Amino acid sequence: MSKVASGKTTAPKAKLLDEFNASIMFDKELYLQDIEGSIAHVKMLSKQDIISNDARDKIIDGLAIIKKEIEEGKYQFNIADEDIHMSIESRLSTIIGDDAKRMHTARSRNDQVALDFRMYVLKSNKEIISLLLELERVLLNISKKHTKTLLPGMTHLQHAQPINFAYHMLAYVSMFKRDIERLEDSYKRNNISPIGCAALAGSPYKTDREYEASLLGFDSVSINCLDTVSDRDFALEILFNISTLMMHISRISEEIILWSSSEFGFVELSDEYSTSSSIMPQKKNPDVPELLRGKTGRVNGNLISLLTVLKGLPLAYNKDMQEDKEGVFDSVKTAKISVKILSEALKGMRIDEQAMLKATKKGHLSATDLADYLTANCGYTFRDAYKLTGEVVAFAEENSKDMSELNLQELQKFEPKIKEDVIETLQLETSMNARSSQGGTATCSTLAQLEYFENWMKKS
Ligand code: ARG
Repeated sequence: MSKVASGKTTAPKAKLLDEFNASIMFDKELYLQDIEGSIAHVKMLSKQDIISNDARDKIIDGLAIIKKEIEEGKYQFNIADEDIHMSIESRLSTIIGDDAKRMHTARSRNDQVALDFRMYVLKSNKEIISLLLELERVLLNISKKHTKTLLPGMTHLQHAQPINFAYHMLAYVSMFKRDIERLEDSYKRNNISPIGCAALAGSPYKTDREYEASLLGFDSVSINCLDTVSDRDFALEILFNISTLMMHISRISEEIILWSSSEFGFVELSDEYSTSSSIMPQKKNPDVPELLRGKTGRVNGNLISLLTVLKGLPLAYNKDMQEDKEGVFDSVKTAKISVKILSEALKGMRIDEQAMLKATKKGHLSATDLADYLTANCGYTFRDAYKLTGEVVAFAEENSKDMSELNLQELQKFEPKIKEDVIETLQLETSMNARSSQGGTATCSTLAQLEYFENWMKKS
């Protein structure tokens, strides 16, 4: 049983209950936030003459010793202390004696845990953002080199129209930019202090919540204490943001896996970020992108878990809420390592421009250009042009050619009004560069997108 507070129940707790009830095994992750929160709290209490300056200083010195002990691995986490909050208070009592008992004035574990957990989530938001910015840098560096590298753009995983590789990479830059913005937005919305709400109804002491919040770097204090101690939206938001981010990581991973197969051969991961088979000596396996894709399942589970834990809870705090932490810790760790390893794997990835070009010559990627040519130059409606182009595709297939390889005579058999300039129109590079509308794949449009993202990065 905890030394700090035994309250109404006096009989010693069953050992099994200690094990079941405790969160210390995982919430020790919050030790730093707990110590910082307690320092700010006692500073506020002394400023408001609720405790003496002397008690404040003793508490702050004791907390510094505890921080050092934890960081040096000398601290004893004891399951009977239940959680990190009681553990630190208990250790503080041993170090400084009775003054430790003043630290919990005008607060409850309910606002304390809401504070610690929120601080952890806010810090994690920032850490993930900075890792994502590094990933964006890597993707932009790859993009800069490949604004003219042709590859088949696909829909339904079928060759559709020629695009360039930078354009493809910039699609991911766009996704990760949204992930960054979501995390920033979430940070702003949740940078509100819960401390001072106490158990559920606020406190009878003359506390200064604004002051305490400012010491901890919050923008403001929460409005309604009943909501504050039972609010875990900030945790749900980071879980959702991580799920979305991991879904994006999973999609690029899927492409890397496909692209590194012999069927595609577009890219090759460096040996450093590949693994080998234990039985087939010729194999090089894309374990990194496969694991990234696989881990997405677990972070989605964490989001659904917390939504489910919270859905039926009456106000305010309920012990169910102790189940909020493990999933968040797990998702945050997963997101951090995933973004890092994806950046590193991309840095060393070899890009085979020739293989991409070769693939572009399969699938008549300039078929839409012929239909557009017939519509613009030969008096066809688009639907009739579409139909005639279908016949040209069948002819090219029969003759084992790509449409871009047909000569003028062959094309004129279908429509005598077709002129010499059609040959240029059907070239894959011309086709790619024809799509120069805003946001299109033409090299000039791609360069404009690159510039947009680089300017955004400079401001981030
Ligand atoms: N370990 C608890 C948690 O993580 C701390 C809050 C406990 N509050 C309470 N009234 N039992 O949720």
